[in-house]
Amino acid sequence: MKTVLILGATSDIAVALAKKFAEQQYNIQLAARKPAQLKLLQAEIKISYKVNCTIHAFDAIQYYTHHEFFGNLIPKPDVVISIFGATENEYEAFNDWDIAQRMINTNYTGVVSILNIVSKHYIGQKKGTIIGISSIAGDRGKASTLVYGSSKAALNTYLSGLRNKCFKENVHVMTVKPGFVKTRMTTSFKLPKILAATPTEFSQILYCSYQQKKDVVYVKWFWKYIMLMVKCIPEFQFKKMK
Ligand SMILES: NC(=O)c1ccc[n+]([C@@H]2O[C@H](COP(=O)([O-])OP(=O)(O)OC[C@H]3O[C@@H](n4cnc5c(N)ncnc54)[C@H](OP(=O)(O)O)[C@@H]3O)[C@@H](O)[C@H]2O)c1
Repeated sequence: MKTVLILGATSDIAVALAKKFAEQQYNIQLAARKPAQLKLLQAEIKISYKVNCTIHAFDAIQYYTHHEFFGNLIPKPDVVISIFGATENEYEAFNDWDIAQRMINTNYTGVVSILNIVSKHYIGQKKGTIIGISSIAGDRGKASTLVYGSSKAALNTYLSGLRNKCFKENVHVMTVKPGFVKTRMTTSFKLPKILAATPTEFSQILYCSYQQKKDVVYVKWFWKYIMLMVKCIPEFQFKKMK
């Protein structure tokens, strides 16, 4: 029986993913900075899907704890999904370095820290899958997502490089770029119904793409073409747009 580790397991997307993998008879390792919040989910997974489910304390920006965190996992997971992320008010982030730094450290530095450790282990055993949740916001810099988008752009480049590094070692790295997903992160946004995915839809698309060993996945699929068009707009034009 395979095991999946979910980093940032208190997010709505993570809950849906944990249930999806449990339904497929994976054992589940849930990791979050507030592990006590995971007890109900753990019980639900164990009872509903009859798989093992464990809870682990993990803080993405406590980099120096990451070696011990991964070292203590028994068994080592076959699949690692990095979901944690921080979205802060961009106006405040522009004016307050602590806020900007927290976003950069959570969305980029923290992911690099833990996935370097995971990928070293996977390269050593010549198998494993790493799934990184990024965002379409990383595809092009915009005023409205200045710090968030640039941290996700850095993450995209890291995951692409990691995929390149790991390919010959039989380790698969998948980048997931959601558009809008209906979660607590987006409760304050007025999401156009057709553009937004539910966490359940997200989990189905991710699981299917993981099985197909895709490299880069947009959720939903049409974001790939929307972002292709956005990326084609010349910079002299793009800088004038909202
Ligand atoms: N929702 C969308 O429309 C959308 C679109 C594009 C990309 N995404 C990406 O999808 C992922 C999940 O987003 P979401 O919408 O589910 O957001 P969310 O509900 O705000 O979830 C964010 C998760 O990250 C965790 N987290 C934050 N800082 C952490 C830290 N230092 N250490 C460990 N965990 C930490 C949070 O844990 P706590 O419970 O402890 O706060 C929470 O579980 C994020 O990477 C986000 O950028 C979302």
